[in-house]
Amino acid sequence: MADHGFEVLYKILVIGNSGVGKTSVMMRYVDQQFKPSMLSTVGVDFKTKVILCKGQRIKLQIWDTAGHERFRTITGAFYRGAMGILLVYDITDSASFAETSQWLNNIKEKCAPEDDPVVFLVGNKCDLKDQRRVSTTDGEKLAKTYGILFAETSAAEYTNISETFAKLTEVIMDRDKLAASVSVAAQLGDEKKTDVHTLDDEDSVPQRRKSCCK
Ligand code: GTP
Ligand code: MG
Repeated sequence: MADHGFEVLYKILVIGNSGVGKTSVMMRYVDQQFKPSMLSTVGVDFKTKVILCKGQRIKLQIWDTAGHERFRTITGAFYRGAMGILLVYDITDSASFAETSQWLNNIKEKCAPEDDPVVFLVGNKCDLKDQRRVSTTDGEKLAKTYGILFAETSAAEYTNISETFAKLTEVIMDRDKLAASVSVAAQLGDEKKTDVHTLDDEDSVPQRRKSCCK
């Protein structure tokens, strides 16, 4: 799909320990590519992809962050405004799973309260069955505890990659619609109070969600 004519822009952030496969997941999704040997990300990088979700053209702006400790100050500046966050761990690396709680704290600290992003826990490298150290059940349990979404993926085998981004987009969109209807209800309430009778469709969409290039 051409990268123009989108109706809404969603900012997605990809976080997690170094080496879990964040860049690989993004590359697989946007460029349909996988490289068995990758250079560690320095700072942040982003790619975009326009997708069709429930009849709407959505531009996903996907921010890939460096997992390494020394980039935490830089990457921390990119949390603001994220509407969706993929928190990636490696199913063959228990430490990367254990440290997801720190990443969840980072989200709380670095996102603005009004951002309230949809968080998706992703157990990557599920093709490496013999080296698995984190069970699917443990991943599911953790996601349930925090009330976040969960999936296992493989960037190498293209397992669950597009499904994960599609699900994340769908949930953000549903939340957006809910926010818009709450905002309309609130405006209608205000109108009753102030006796104003016009309500433009444009005004029913929350400003921070609006972004159009048409
Ligand atoms: P940082 O940029 O340092 O934060 O790492 P990253 O999370 O971006 O990891 P990256 O995508 O660079 O992947 C690290 C290594 O894991 C690379 O050698 C990838 O080829 C490999 N890798 C990534 N995803 C998968 C996967 O699904 N399966 C397998 N077998 N290897 C993977
Ligand atoms: Mg990377």
